[in-house]
Amino acid sequence: MSLANRRILLGVSGGIAAYKSCELVRRLRERGAEVRVVMTAGATHFVGVATFQALSGQPVRTSLWDEQAEAAMGHIELARWAERILVAPASADAIARLAHGHADDLLATLCLASAAPLYLAPAMNQQMWAHPAVQANLATLRARGVHVLGPAAGEQACGDVGSGRMLEPHELRDALAASFGDGALAGLDVVVSAGPTFEDIDPVRFIGNRSSGKMGFAVAQAAAEAGARVTLVAGPVSLPTPPGVAARVDVRSAAQMQAAVLDACARADIYVGAAAVGDYRPAEVAERKLKKQAGADLVLQLAENPDILASLSARPRHPFLVGFAAETHDVAAYARGKLARKGLDMIAANQVGGGLGFETADNALTLYWADGELELPRTGKAELARQLVAEVAARYKASRA
Ligand code: CTP
Repeated sequence: MSLANRRILLGVSGGIAAYKSCELVRRLRERGAEVRVVMTAGATHFVGVATFQALSGQPVRTSLWDEQAEAAMGHIELARWAERILVAPASADAIARLAHGHADDLLATLCLASAAPLYLAPAMNQQMWAHPAVQANLATLRARGVHVLGPAAGEQACGDVGSGRMLEPHELRDALAASFGDGALAGLDVVVSAGPTFEDIDPVRFIGNRSSGKMGFAVAQAAAEAGARVTLVAGPVSLPTPPGVAARVDVRSAAQMQAAVLDACARADIYVGAAAVGDYRPAEVAERKLKKQAGADLVLQLAENPDILASLSARPRHPFLVGFAAETHDVAAYARGKLARKGLDMIAANQVGGGLGFETADNALTLYWADGELELPRTGKAELARQLVAEVAARYKASRA
C-alpha cells in the first residue's frame, strides 16, 4: 500500500520504544510519505534529535518555544499540515496528557490544534499498561475517536513479559496506510446530510430543531477515512468541515436540503440521511417581521415538507439508502416502520432522552435492515460513526453482490 505524498506527523514521547520509531520513519518514507517528527523532552533522553532529523530529512521540533522553528513553520501550520498524527511510542504520561487535553508542550498542543485523525501506539511496562488509570485514559480517548494501535504482548525491554510492547514499525505503517485509500468504502461516492433544517417564519424567526449535526459530521469523517469521496450537505450548524471530506454544501431549509441531496445523489453509491429534516414549514413566509398582536394568539399554518429519503427511493436508480430515526419511545417499531415506508436499505435508530441524542458527545444506535439488526452500544460519536460506516459498507457490498 502506497503512502505517496501522505503527510504524517510522528510524535515521539519518552519511552525506550522510541528506538523503534527511527525505523518507523524509514518504513513510512519508503512508501512515499512525508514525515515530520516532534519529540517530547522525555523522548530526547532515548534518541537524539539528529537521528530523526537525518531519517526524516526534515527539521525535528522539540519545543513550543523555538522562535526560529516557529518562524519557519508555526505550530498551527504544522497541525494543519498533518493528514495523520501518530504518537509512537505513546507513553502512559503522553496518554494521560492527551486524555486531559493538556497544551503545555508542542506535541500535546499539536494534537489539540489538528483536525487530523490521531493514532496512538502505546508502549510501556505491562504493570503500567494494566493500571486502571491508563485504561481509563485510553477509554476516554477511544470514545473521542482516537485510534489505539496495539500494544502487543511479549518480552519487554525491562525484562517483564506481558502486554505493553509497541507494535512493530511495519505494522504501524500498514495501519496508517490502510487508513488512507484502501478502506471499506474506497472508490465509492457517499453523500451525507447532517444537522437541522430551519424554516423561516419571517425575516427574524424560524422553526428549527435541536440537531447539533455532530453525528452526521462524524459519519462524513468516518466515510472519508474509509476511503469514500464524501459530499456533506449540512444544515445550519457551525461545525468545521471534517478532514478528508471532498465537498460541502451548506443549506438552511428542507427544500434546499432536498435539492442539494438529489443533485449530489445523481452519481452517489450511498446516501446517509443523518439530518433532522423539518417535517413542516410555515405555509407562507412573511416578508416583513410579524408584529405582536397583544391579547390575541397567533396561528401558524404549516405545510408539509417533501421527504428527502422517500423522494430518493422513488427514483428508479438510486443509491443505497441509510436513514436515521431518533425516537423517544417504541424505537424498534418506529424504526422498522420507517425502513419499510421510506424504502430504505438500512436505518440507524437511537433513543432520545436519558442523556443521549442531540447535543451530546456520546450516542448509541441500533441498526435495522430487512433481515437483520445490530446494536452499537454507547460510545463517542466518532467511534460510533466508524462502526456504523463499517456496517454500511458490509451491507452495501452484500446488496451489490
Ligand atoms: N427525512 C427526510 N426527509 C424528511 C424528513 C425526514 O429525508 N422530510 C429522513 C431523515 O433524514 C432521517 C429519516 O428520514 O434519516 C427519519 O427522520 P424522522 O424525522 O425520524 O422521520 P419522520 O418521517 O419525520 O417521522 P416522525 O417525525 O413522525 O418520527
